[in-house]
Parts: sequence; structure tokens; C-alpha cells
Amino acid sequence: MSELKSYFVWDAGVRWFHWINLLCLLGLIAVGVAILNDEALDLGSDAKILLKTVHVWIGYVFALNLLWRLVWAFSGGPNARWRAILPGGRGYMNEVRAYLADLAAGRPRQYLGHNPLGRIAVSLLLLLLLTQAVTGLVLAGTDLFYPPFGAWIAGGIAAPGVDPATLVPYAKEMYDQAAYDAMRAFRKPFITVHYYNFFVLLFFAVIHILAVVLTEQREGGNLISAMFTGRKILSGPPADQTNTE
Ligand code: HEM
Repeated sequence: MSELKSYFVWDAGVRWFHWINLLCLLGLIAVGVAILNDEALDLGSDAKILLKTVHVWIGYVFALNLLWRLVWAFSGGPNARWRAILPGGRGYMNEVRAYLADLAAGRPRQYLGHNPLGRIAVSLLLLLLLTQAVTGLVLAGTDLFYPPFGAWIAGGIAAPGVDPATLVPYAKEMYDQAAYDAMRAFRKPFITVHYYNFFVLLFFAVIHILAVVLTEQREGGNLISAMFTGRKILSGPPADQTNTE
């Protein structure tokens, strides 16, 4: 039987990002689904504004956590970096072929960081999260006049004589009608992307969880507990770096 060896793979930055991101996602999805079903839930405008406000505050934590992770990819540990995340680079396609060939032959390669297909999945997830964060921040401005774009949007639609800082959602009498209509037209593609990207993100989040569970089941290792402890236990030499014991 091959000897088991423990390697340090996920630094504290990656682990904190991962679990804060999951908690924020659960909150954003729950409140987002309620916003989506506001009519079925028979919510009045006050309840709707409250839900959006809660969604946006969770959204700020989510967006800051994501921003921090994107920066950490420049300065974190070897498995946290863009080099270990983005698919591509020298020898990437050979690595994919070798990974798939070994998998098909029943000799799955073990990796300290992401395996070559995992790199595609993680990059895609980060892109979907970023899309949701950017569109969400624009909606926070157009719907609630919240930062970072809210003051600028309020300044553009306040009726003559109305102080933009006093604008409140759904108070049409405070808005210049033509400017408000133009703002709603500007907002439309952002809500469309936020809406459809939500389903795409849900789909890939489920795939991500299934992939991690199946990989752990088929290839061994301890992918799931490693995201808590930072350490992976492998039964053979890793196919990627070997300098992070
Ligand atoms: C992965 C993270 C997120 C998910 C899964 C998510 C999900 C959703 C969903 C399902 C809706 C309802 C869409 C609709 O009414 O058509 C929604 C609406 C909204 N989201 Fe998000 N969201 C996320 C991130 C954010 C962020 C970061 C912000 C801002 C900080 C944000 C701000 C908003 C706002 C203001 C609305 C109300 C739009 C409206 O219906 O008028 N979201 N979100």
C-alpha cells in the first residue's frame, strides 16, 4: 500500500474567501429568490425595498470578499495565484491530455492545487461571480441609490429643485420623468444579465459541488476537508508542484 503524505495547499486567504463566499451566496440566493417572487409573495413596496437593502448589504460583503480574492491571486500562496488558477500557459493542453488519459486508464493523477479541468471550472466560477457583483452594484445604484454609483444616478434623475441626496426608491414625484425613463433603459441590460447569470451561476455551483464530491470519491484524497484544514493527504507524488510541504 502506498504511503500517505500530508501537504499544505490552501493558505488561510483562500479558505476564508471560500467559506465567506459560500455564506454570502446562500444569503444572496435566498433573498434574491424572494425579490424574484415579490408578486407571488404579495410584498408591498416597503418590504421590497427592505429585501433589496438586505440583498445589497450582503452583496457588499460578497463583492469585497471577491475583490480581495482577485488581489490575493497576485500575492497569495502558490496554489492561490493566477498561474495555478487560469487554464492555459506552457504545456497546459499536454497536461489536460495526460490527466484525461491517466483518468481513463484508472490511474488518476493527484494534484496539490487544481487539476487541469478544475482550473477551467474555477476560472469560470470567478468570472460568473464577478459578473454578478458588477451588475449587482449597478442595480444597487439604480434601484436604491446606493454606492458606488447611487449618488451619480440620483444626481441624473432628481426633478428640478429636489436634492438628489434625498431621493428614495419608488418616489416617482421626486424624479424627472424623462431622465428616469432613460435611467431605466440604461439599467435594463444589467438586470437582464443579473437575472440570467443567477441561473447560470446556480447551475455551475451545483456542478462544482458534484465535481468535488465525485473527484474525492473516485480519486481519493480529501478535497473537502482540505478547504477547512488547508492540508491535502495524497497517496502518491503530486502531478503539480512539490515544494509546499
Ligand atoms: C452571486 C451573487 C448574487 C446573486 C446570486 C444574486 C441574485 C439576485 C436575484 C435572483 C435577484 C432577483 C432578480 C430580479 O428581480 O429579476 C437579484 C436582484 C438584485 N440584486 Fe442580486 N445577486 C447577487 C449579487 C448582488 C450584489 C453583489 C449586489 C449589489 C451589491 C446585488 C444587488 C441586487 C439588486 C439591487 C437587486 C434588485 C433588482 C431588482 O429586481 O430591481 N446583487 N439578485
